[in-house]
Amino acid sequence: MYTKVMIDSINRLEETRDNRMKQELSLLTSREKEKLLHKFHPDYQPGTLKELKIGPNKGERVIYEIANLFEAYSQINPNKFDISKIDYDVDVFIIGGGGAGASAALIAQEKGVSVLLATKLRLGDSNTMMAQGGIQAADKPNDSPPMHYLDVIGGGGFHNTPELVNVLVRDAPETIVWLEDLGVMFDKENDGTMITIHGGGTSRKRMHSARDYTGGEIMKTLRDEVKNRGIDIIEFSPAIELLTDDEKCTGAILYNLETEEYVVVRAKTTILATGGAGRLHVQDFPTSNHYGATADGLVIAYRAGSPVIFMDNIQYHPTGAAFPEQIVGLLVTEKCRGLGAQLVNIDGDRFIYELETRDVESAAIIKECTERNKGIKAPNGMIGVWLDTPMIDIIHGGGTIQKKLPAMYRQYQRFDIDMSKEPLLVYPTQHFQNGGIIVNEKAETKIENLYAAGEVEGGVHGRNRLMGNSLLECIVFGIRAGKNAALKAKEIERGKLTLQHIKRYHIELKDANIETDIMSPMLLPDYRRNETIARMIDI
Ligand code: FUM
Repeated sequence: MYTKVMIDSINRLEETRDNRMKQELSLLTSREKEKLLHKFHPDYQPGTLKELKIGPNKGERVIYEIANLFEAYSQINPNKFDISKIDYDVDVFIIGGGGAGASAALIAQEKGVSVLLATKLRLGDSNTMMAQGGIQAADKPNDSPPMHYLDVIGGGGFHNTPELVNVLVRDAPETIVWLEDLGVMFDKENDGTMITIHGGGTSRKRMHSARDYTGGEIMKTLRDEVKNRGIDIIEFSPAIELLTDDEKCTGAILYNLETEEYVVVRAKTTILATGGAGRLHVQDFPTSNHYGATADGLVIAYRAGSPVIFMDNIQYHPTGAAFPEQIVGLLVTEKCRGLGAQLVNIDGDRFIYELETRDVESAAIIKECTERNKGIKAPNGMIGVWLDTPMIDIIHGGGTIQKKLPAMYRQYQRFDIDMSKEPLLVYPTQHFQNGGIIVNEKAETKIENLYAAGEVEGGVHGRNRLMGNSLLECIVFGIRAGKNAALKAKEIERGKLTLQHIKRYHIELKDANIETDIMSPMLLPDYRRNETIARMIDI
């Protein structure tokens, strides 16, 4: 399975291990980090960004693939579409069935309003389900929300929206309690104390996990709860447009992927919880994201007039699988590095301290594989560096990998790779949308009666998220969106349903001479089979 070059390199890695284990690598200085990022991080490469010609962020430069979806026509013709037949009339409408959407649904229902949740695939098919490493919360005696705050801000390059970070870290401890009360089984010591570990860029051990399937454990618990409480759910029905009444959001149009019918939902308040953009494969990177992560919520909110923030950067997780081919791009959790696994080049040498922030780690790996030509080429053509996972059992005792990383162990075992004995070949993978729709502490967007929670909103993480703050963001802002959308729904009347904003947007496209045959949102990735491509109506 391995080439001779790989085998020789693994031998060198084993020879250098004893020395490496004693080696102390220091953190890079700010200046060194800046230099590394500017030269090697994908966000800084020429041709990555495109200036927007229309919409609320006109004049700003955003990721090329996202700009193309913003500057595109709607999947529906606003002059022909019939919105007179309302299929669902609810108080709170939640679009998205991941961690944020499910949390919002539970809390909104508790407030005594009618709730409907629609999701593109099945309830729970989301990046939340795939999250591995953990969820941060400062709930140990040596830690505090202010310390968590400083780490988040430092990790985000001091660009984060302070008010959002404040609520993220302050709500974190009670969020863990809420999840535990619902039934989430976090890892604990024999005496019942929560086990917490470090992630990159954290000054305290505050990562709570459920082995290496933390997101799965959380998502399954939330999904069961949503179903058990009888909340109405529509599956396989992504949102393709919002509905508006002047500047207010009044619901959305869904597209049923199975029946190919449109569904009109009128709602007093609407929550976007549609997740991220990994399946856009920015700069052709592989991705750790689930199949539905195509930036739909961002696109329809932008078209309706909602400004976005930090859409000029993407998080590349440093350790995506580079081999074997079947799992390229899938995550090799940061928890491996938290447990001591080192990054090693073809010569068996370390080249970066393993718990730098993700942007820095990724840039260092790309440098090693490009400028320094110290990567290892696999039979599938991918070049990567080694993650010396056998060190985990050496440091913590035999069996640790199987106990603490059982899902990852099995994932590699299927391909006859025993990660407790052999290193893993890794390379950065598109992982997270750091930016997104602008929201405030109540999860309100700039469009009245429209809320956003989870990966689709931005500002919390600045320009670089730390591990474990994504699951936290989903739940914290999902809860806040659910509560505030429900309270608002109690105060207001239903609005009119119009597609005025789409008409306006189409005129803007034409006035700006934007020639494109792209229609958005994308709904499913480009490599989808023809029969699943959404039906399109002439624009
Ligand atoms: O590496 C990881 O387990 C990823 C966690 C995260 O993105 O928060």
